[in-house]
Amino acid sequence: MTVQSPIKPKPVTPEEAEAAGVTVPRHVAIIMDGNGRWAQARGLDRADGHAEGASGVRQAVRAARKYGVEYLTLYAFSVANWARPTPEVEALMRLLVEFAEKEKAELREHGIRVNVVGEIEDLPTATRHAVEHVIDYCADGDRMTLSLALSYGGRRDIVNAVRSLAVRARAGLVLPEEIDENFFHREMTTHTLPDVDLLIRTGGESRVSDFLLFEAAYAEMQFLPIMWPDFREDTLVDCFREFTKRQRRFGRTGDQVDVQGEVPFDPLQPK
Ligand code: IPE
Ligand code: IPE
Ligand code: MG
Repeated sequence: MTVQSPIKPKPVTPEEAEAAGVTVPRHVAIIMDGNGRWAQARGLDRADGHAEGASGVRQAVRAARKYGVEYLTLYAFSVANWARPTPEVEALMRLLVEFAEKEKAELREHGIRVNVVGEIEDLPTATRHAVEHVIDYCADGDRMTLSLALSYGGRRDIVNAVRSLAVRARAGLVLPEEIDENFFHREMTTHTLPDVDLLIRTGGESRVSDFLLFEAAYAEMQFLPIMWPDFREDTLVDCFREFTKRQRRFGRTGDQVDVQGEVPFDPLQPK
């Protein structure tokens, strides 16, 4: 794996970004796809592609932190990825340990809190411990929340939430009329995160592959042809520029948004 310099962001504030004509999304989520093809195109092992993918992570974290993104959520391993060949899964699990150990000092130094969405209990013990350690180590971070989606499935998160509410309803602890969107979201592993504003996928595919199905309901989507190891700080800035050009209508008309601004639809408020 290429040795990278540690995360050393320049102090760029969200205001400075705005002055430069760039709207910085509050919550950016990324489907980090294309490691395998990046490696195969170079005659390397797929695991080498995953190792090189760590550089994409570093670049994305650095740029997000620099521009004042509050929440960055990275799809690192899906529930469906358990179906991959064992050596590839093992390599990914080892790389997560390496990432946690190598990056924790810089993450803490830059006020980045680490969080997991998905099922951390599914991970092998060494990986789980390494991830739990970096979460504890960076717990005081108050500049950005970096969420790693690990053994994550959007449908599974929804179904687990339904199940837990059903159990509590059966015991009389929850009334059906209490269950609204916010109440439901509190049962999901993403409960500490706001809705996704910008969803990026590298690797050239235009699909969501079971990522944040509930949380990205009104996310702006950008599908990039580049493979994940080629992701750079500037790539994220280009995505912000494209995001800035979009009009988020949340069901209203463009004229309404011109007058009222980009106001998310709130199902709990009367019209
Ligand atoms: C994304 O890269 C990383 C994970 C899914 C863990 P892939 O491994 O899916 O790379 P491609 O899509 O096969 O190129
Ligand atoms: C999505 O990529 C999962 C992650 C990036 C972790 P995949 O490569 O697993 O998605 P599909 O199989 O192409 O839909
Ligand atoms: Mg893939």
